[in-house]
Formats: sequence, C-alpha cells, structure tokens
Amino acid sequence: MKTALITGVTGQDGSYLSEFLIEKGYDVHGIIRRSSVDFRERIAHLEGHPQFHLHYGDLGDSMSLVQVVFKVRPDEIYNLAAQSHVQVSFDSPEFTADVDATGVLRVLEAVRACNLEKKCRIYQASTSELYGKVEAIPQNENTPFLPYSPYAVAKLYGFWITKEYREAYNMFCCSGILFNHESERRGETFVTRKITLAAARISLGYQDCLYLGNLDSKRDWGYAKDYVECMWLILQNSKADDYVIATGKQHSVRDFAQLAFHYAGIELQFEGKGIDEKGICVKGPEKLIGKTLVAVSKDFYRPTDVVNLCGDPSKAIKQLGWNPNKTSFEQLVKLMVEHDIAKVASEGAAHKVKMNLEEYLEKGIVK
Ligand code: NAP
Ligand code: GDD
Repeated sequence: MKTALITGVTGQDGSYLSEFLIEKGYDVHGIIRRSSVDFRERIAHLEGHPQFHLHYGDLGDSMSLVQVVFKVRPDEIYNLAAQSHVQVSFDSPEFTADVDATGVLRVLEAVRACNLEKKCRIYQASTSELYGKVEAIPQNENTPFLPYSPYAVAKLYGFWITKEYREAYNMFCCSGILFNHESERRGETFVTRKITLAAARISLGYQDCLYLGNLDSKRDWGYAKDYVECMWLILQNSKADDYVIATGKQHSVRDFAQLAFHYAGIELQFEGKGIDEKGICVKGPEKLIGKTLVAVSKDFYRPTDVVNLCGDPSKAIKQLGWNPNKTSFEQLVKLMVEHDIAKVASEGAAHKVKMNLEEYLEKGIVK
C-alpha cells in the first residue's frame, strides 16, 4: 500500500484528492491547522476511515513539517496548502509569501532532512496566475511568467524552487500549472461560487442583488474533481516534469453569471459598461422581471487583475493521457447551481443571516 501526505487537506482540492487516493488504495495522511472553530466540512465524511489520518502542522513551521514527514515517511507528498485567494494576497502579502513561497521550501527541506529524497515524490500546486499580465494566448509550459499579484509572485518562487530541487538534488518533484478549477466545494468568496450561491439565493428570495467586480475578466474553468486525477498522474510518470492543466476553453465572468442564473430559472440581459453595467432579469419569476440582479461594485476590483487566462493542456494529454473534456463548462455551472439551490433551500431563512454576514465580510475584509 502506498502512503501519501497531503498539505491543504481541508481545502477544495485536498478533499477531492483524499477521496481519489483512498479509492486507489493509498493510506492518506493530511496536515491540518489548529482552529478555534471546527472548519473541516469538506473532509468530515472521511474522518474515521481506516485509510485516512490527520496530523497538526503548518507550512509556516518547519519543525512541524519535519515531524510529520518523519512519522509518515510518505511515498508521495501533494503540497496543496496555500493562502490561495488572490485578492487577500494584497491585504496579507507577507503571510502569503511565507506560506506560498517559503512554505514550499520548508516541505522540500523536510523531505531532505528525513533522508527521503530518493523515495518520496513531490507535487507542487502551481498556478496559471504565474502567466499574469499575459503575453500569449493560449498559455503553455513555454509561455513566459509575468506574475501580477503578491500571490502569483509567491507562487513563482514555489515553482522555481521545486524545479531547482529537481535539478540540484535529483529529487522527483513536479509542478502542476493548474488553471482555475471549481466545484460545489469551492470557497464561497471565489467568483464562481459567489455567483452560484447568489443565483440560488436570489431565485429562492433570500438575496436581492449580486455585486461583482470585473465582469470582463476571462478564465479557463474546469472541474476540480477531474483535476486531482492529473496531480496523481504527474507523480506516476516515469520522468519528473511540469505540466499545464486546463480545458483550453475560455469564458468571461459575465458568461459564467449569465449561465448560472439560467440554470436557476432566470434569464439576464446585461446593459451598460464598466462600473455602470447591470444584469437585468428579462425572464423568470414574475416578481423579478425588470429588476437589477447583478451590479458592479468597485469594492471587488483588484489593484492589478489577471484578465486573459486560457491554457493549452496538449502536453498533459499527450504525455499523461489526461482527458480535459470529462466535464464541460455547462455541466460544471449546472452542477454548482443545482448543489447551491438544494443547499439554500434546505438551510432556509438561516441563509439570509449567513448571506448578510458574508456580504459584510466580503465588503469589509474578504474581497
Ligand atoms: P483552498 O480551498 O483555499 O485550500 C487551501 C488549503 O491550504 C486549506 O486546507 C488551508 O487550510 C491550507 N492552508 C492555508 N495556509 C496554511 C498553512 N499556513 N499551513 C498549512 N495549511 C494551510 O485551495 P484549493 O482551491 O483547494 O487549491 C489548492 C492549491 O492549489 C493551493 O495551493 C492553490 O493556491 C492552488 N491552485 C488552486 C487553483 C484553483 O483554481 N482552485 C488553481 C491553481 C492553483 P485551512 O482550511 O486551515 O485554511
Ligand atoms: N473573487 C472575486 N469576487 N472575483 C471577482 C469578482 C468578485 O466579486 N468579480 C470579478 N471577479 C474576477 C476577479 O477580478 C478575477 O479576474 C476573476 O474574477 C477570478 O477571480 P477568483 O474566482 O477570485 O479566482 P482567481 O482566478 O483570482 O484565483 C483562483 O484561480 C487561480 C488560478 O488561476 C484561485 O483559486 C487561485 O488560488 C488560483 O491560483
């Protein structure tokens, strides 16, 4: 039985990867941070499973990482832990650098400190944000990196230090340059989930209007469940290398919102430009017709924004046999909206209170 260690196990990807590896017969160990509230919703169903084990640790604390790596002696490490919100990286740049840049070094060094560099393969969660102020479309493994946020600059260090340890110490360490991937477990302040939750709440009468930032921003959105398979494939390959993981298809934030509301039974028509743009209900429940359901707020604009991401996954298709077309954009939006309608309906009026709190947090703290 192979043993895997996952940092960031409580996150969207960590939870799907844990399920995937348990299914493959792995003994899965995850690193969690101590928190004053129990926020382990995404892995609650795995706790108590004989192949699933949790350890306390933190990417900011080398000693904790060395201790866990020494105890677990993993065959594979998936380093998914990060301060992963781009907007938050402008508010907490130093913390982001510590976790997303130096944290990667700490993981690599923990493996060396435990003399596991020959046995242990390491996956580093890299990102399409590295392309930043993009120079070429679509982006592949040879496209120049032009990071455009504190998050991306920190992740660039993570990418290069992983490559450096591969070459300097002959370690099997690889980066997956993953484009945006979403799911019903996506954090609620990333744009897709914010939209699908709002479409659900508006259709059920718990929210009046959704405020967004740059509607013109374009992303290559895939399904997280499909992407964790690729993380595993990267580590099963005969040669350590870096891969772009993407669908090759691009949509704007506006396209995502229009389709999400469609699946919630509401047709939107967008009018106006920039900060004055509005999404008006032209078809749907009678009480919503003619109402502005989507509006733009400068609170959600970023100091610098990455606006044109579209990946070319040819290398992963050819060398890893990965299929980027398992879940289409339409299927992804639909499954997220259906999930959120069921969630909002079951939580009922309590959702209105939760939504008000989230809106406050988003405007004041989490953008
Ligand atoms: P996520 O849902 O935000 O999960 C991040 C995880 O990192 C959480 O488990 C979090 O723990 C943990 N974490 C944060 N700071 C930590 C620290 N100091 N020590 C230990 N753990 C820490 O992110 P995700 O969407 O699953 O993404 C997984 C990884 O892929 C991240 O590295 C992200 O940057 C990268 N990535 C994501 C995408 C995407 O579209 N999802 C695309 C490209 C790259 P808590 O639960 O305790 O906060
Ligand atoms: N979050 C958010 N909220 N984004 C908004 C909003 C809003 O109200 N309105 C417009 N956007 C735009 C952002 O400006 C950005 O251009 C785009 O929507 C996507 O934003 P996010 O969903 O927050 O994701 P991201 O692309 O910045 O970052 C995610 O993907 C990266 C891979 O490219 C994260 O998962 C990162 O960890 C990951 O590396």
